[in-house]
Amino acid sequence: MELLKILTLLSVITYTFCVDHGNFKTCAQSSFCRRCREMEPNKSPYVLNFPSAQITPNSVHVELWNNEEQVVFNLTLSALVDNTFRLQVEEASPLRDRFRSLYALKSDPVLAQLEMVSRNEDEITIKNGDNAVKLIRSPFRIDFFSDTEFVASVNARGLFKFEHYRKNDQSDPAANDAENADANSEKKITDPGAWEENFKSFRDSKPFGPSAVAMDITFHGASHAYGIPEHADSLALKDTKDKTDPFRHYNLDVFEYELDSPMAIYGAIPLLYAHGPKRTTGVFWNNPSETWIDIKSSSNSENNVMNSIVNFVSGRSSDGEENKDKTVESHFMSESGVIDVFFLLGPNPKDVIREYARLTGVSPIPQYFALGYHQSRWNYNDEDDVMSVSDNFDNSDIPLDVIWLDIEYTDHKKYFTWDPIRFAHPRIMQQNLTSQGRKLVVIIDPHIKRESGYFLHEDALANDYYVKNAEGAVYEGWCWPGSSSYLDFLNPVVMSYYSSLYSLDKFPEATNDMYLWNDMNEPSVFNGPEITMPKDCIHYGNWEHREIHNTYGLLQVKATYDGLIARSKGTKRPFILTRSFFAGSQRYAAMWTGDNSAEWSHLKISIPMCLSVSIAGMPSCGADVGGFFKNPDNELMIRWYQAGAFLPFYRAHSHIDTKRREPYLFPPEVRNLLRDAIRKRYVYLPLWYTLYHEHEISGLPVIRPLFMEYPSDPAVSTIESTYMVGSSLLCSPVTSAGASSVDVYFPGGSDELWYDIDTYKQYKGEGTVTVPVDMAKIPVFQKGGTIIPTKQRYRRSLTLTHDDPYTLIVALDSKGEANGTLYIDDNESFEYQKGKYLYLSFTFKNNVLTARRIDQDATYPANSWIERVIVIGYSKSAPAAASLKIDGKKDIIKLPVTLDETRQHKTLVVKKPAVKMTQTWSITL
Ligand SMILES: *[C@@H]1O[C@H](CO)[C@@H](O)[C@H](O)[C@H]1NC(C)=O
Ligand SMILES: *[C@@H]1O[C@H](CO)[C@@H](O)[C@H](O)[C@H]1NC(C)=O
Ligand SMILES: *[C@@H]1O[C@H](CO)[C@@H](O)[C@H](O)[C@H]1NC(C)=O
Ligand SMILES: *[C@@H]1O[C@H](CO)[C@@H](O)[C@H](O)[C@H]1NC(C)=O
Repeated sequence: MELLKILTLLSVITYTFCVDHGNFKTCAQSSFCRRCREMEPNKSPYVLNFPSAQITPNSVHVELWNNEEQVVFNLTLSALVDNTFRLQVEEASPLRDRFRSLYALKSDPVLAQLEMVSRNEDEITIKNGDNAVKLIRSPFRIDFFSDTEFVASVNARGLFKFEHYRKNDQSDPAANDAENADANSEKKITDPGAWEENFKSFRDSKPFGPSAVAMDITFHGASHAYGIPEHADSLALKDTKDKTDPFRHYNLDVFEYELDSPMAIYGAIPLLYAHGPKRTTGVFWNNPSETWIDIKSSSNSENNVMNSIVNFVSGRSSDGEENKDKTVESHFMSESGVIDVFFLLGPNPKDVIREYARLTGVSPIPQYFALGYHQSRWNYNDEDDVMSVSDNFDNSDIPLDVIWLDIEYTDHKKYFTWDPIRFAHPRIMQQNLTSQGRKLVVIIDPHIKRESGYFLHEDALANDYYVKNAEGAVYEGWCWPGSSSYLDFLNPVVMSYYSSLYSLDKFPEATNDMYLWNDMNEPSVFNGPEITMPKDCIHYGNWEHREIHNTYGLLQVKATYDGLIARSKGTKRPFILTRSFFAGSQRYAAMWTGDNSAEWSHLKISIPMCLSVSIAGMPSCGADVGGFFKNPDNELMIRWYQAGAFLPFYRAHSHIDTKRREPYLFPPEVRNLLRDAIRKRYVYLPLWYTLYHEHEISGLPVIRPLFMEYPSDPAVSTIESTYMVGSSLLCSPVTSAGASSVDVYFPGGSDELWYDIDTYKQYKGEGTVTVPVDMAKIPVFQKGGTIIPTKQRYRRSLTLTHDDPYTLIVALDSKGEANGTLYIDDNESFEYQKGKYLYLSFTFKNNVLTARRIDQDATYPANSWIERVIVIGYSKSAPAAASLKIDGKKDIIKLPVTLDETRQHKTLVVKKPAVKMTQTWSITL
């Protein structure tokens, strides 16, 4: 009873604290954002001191002077491999060290050779390969060229700003007297928030004063901007300048977040794409302090109408010409740290993501189970509840791979403990789940209950593991357990301590089949400014929280990841879900879009939100299926299960106050459709798994916006309701109520063919088609020219499908050809890194389907085999039989071929080739 009371109290607190828009700052309420945003353009006081320039084989080092304030900065421009440049600016002799973020990059970037092209008093030009960079002395500017095309400029609008650390002259009246100001007259920062800032009842003491860094970057020939998640907003970024606040990056726990808003939410990846039909350029702004980003694309603005008129009048109509005039303007503004920015010169979107992945890393391929369906709820009440959910999925023949436990499984929100009554036998519960082929995921949040006798709190106090407040005492905030303190993950000792808590001898009753969910790691503090930790809190090394805020969650998941690696002695791939993330978090965890609502608008926005996160390097994104807050009606429930089946991370989750809604609870007609959606997910699992392997090799996201697959088609620039899984499935799930059709854009031109995956009806890539839907329909289309591996036997979980046979779906292009890949391994270990896998390619050409190994040396003793080959779009007359030739064998085996009359397009089915996946073979029709 008491527990219930506490729960109700807490949910009241979170509702009343968090729904309110006024809890979160606007740019005008944030002093550094105000100072940066109000700068007047074209008055840059910064100049390069060229006599100081040193040109080394990889870098240019040169002083940058602020002439107004007589301050010297060190600027380094380095050439990196893979069309990338890095620009770093620091104070030459700061009063206090500036924070340099070490956590986003996977390792030191690989330098490339740089050649001097020319040098005079006003310009230095260097080049690397086909890329050139021109440094301009005064006013300071840097121009980037690729293949002689002008791509981007730094400080073209003169908004570069670097607030050096200075003495607080505001407390010194003499210094305020302009006459008395000393020779190196620093310009006063008159902003009232410069040395102390108040927001609502919170005071930020700002002992080090103003420290903002900001820079404008203009992209030429670019019409659209993408990236910089996480925002509950469109894929193509809207203009912010003069319209709304800038996009904000400040990881925050925003309950019932607003849609179509540049407000900050849980995660931040400062990777921006500027895209035009000819070229795509990326910029990675590596700064984990609070950041605001203004965006303005000329294609969004009225002067674009002017441009088109000018173009029309002057007869300039070709794409290239038109886009030459287009620009994307960006303005990055961060509260502290240094300038460390990477220019990813593409030239196409897939190059940009590869270049970014080279810097920040990729996600290791997940365990196979992690791609299945996850059932979560706040909360499953006890062990019986958990087992009954698992049994009920079996009784209603609905596949399920993972059951999740939210905070109530713990002993009074003390993490790394279990409720002694309701979860008295957690190890047996896990074994029971494992015997049904399922895993358990439990939540572990970073706030620590301040309760004497709680081992973790005692350890943290005794060893000085907590973050301190501005006065130097242990910081106390309010979160789920009540009064809490926060581990200081900046301290490497705390990191390894925290990792060790996941070991099987420390985490009571844990098994290797139990995985992790790190939530509330922005960090969320119910009674803190903007529901997070005060910026003047102090971390290890004397860094302020303001300097590291956006990486707090990354550090927690890194510690968890290391802990899980150690737990299995490196034999099992960890699975971790995180809510907060930064650039680099993809190396450790999947993410989801946090506390959404059971509303159509939230279903709809889950797609652009996941696309934005995907192109920012995090391939594993999902949204709470069904919506976290509120109760979905049956129609929304069905549509959400259908859409979720085609996003990377597929988990249903709901708030403690919602009605129970496990799929088996619904009336048969609804339940059947929920089951069908989940089964469809499982049918395509071999494709998803293969795409994760390819992500690990290439950095390419698993789901992709159309602009990434069709970069030169201007019509796809703003499409976000239709997207691709890999480059073979076009998905356009229904996301509105009462829909009888969806408008699907079929890209690729009239030679590109697309086949409905259910009916095999053929569409040409000629633009938008209104496709009729009923409640059972998930509008998904396979691209002609692709071969997709599927598994079509229904099982209760993925574990049981490991040796099941494959069905290859060969969708022919207009030339009658197709190809595809399949990746297979032991689905859970790191043995694949030692070559224990199969990576196969299938090619259909001249009526012959051929299977071969892509990586010749890799082997895995797969027991699976091919039970069926389906060829869609076969235009010749159907043969009576096909001939199978297995390499190394003499016999040619005749296989029956049937015509599938139930489908709308000519489809052949080759039955029971029964070749093993380890064999190489060909089938001739
Ligand atoms: C700036 O450059 C100068 C000259 O190379 C060097 O002495 C100084 O340490 C540099 N400052 C920083 C903060 O790296
Ligand atoms: C485990 O399964 C057995 C057999 O079904 C059941 O009796 C027991 O209650 C289960 N225990 C837990 C903790 O789930
Ligand atoms: C993974 O493969 C192992 C055999 O290597 C098998 O026992 C297990 O059931 C499989 N699990 C999944 C989720 O496929
Ligand atoms: C598959 O076909 C496409 C053209 O349809 C081609 O671009 C691609 O390189 C082919 N891939 C393989 C592995 O043959």
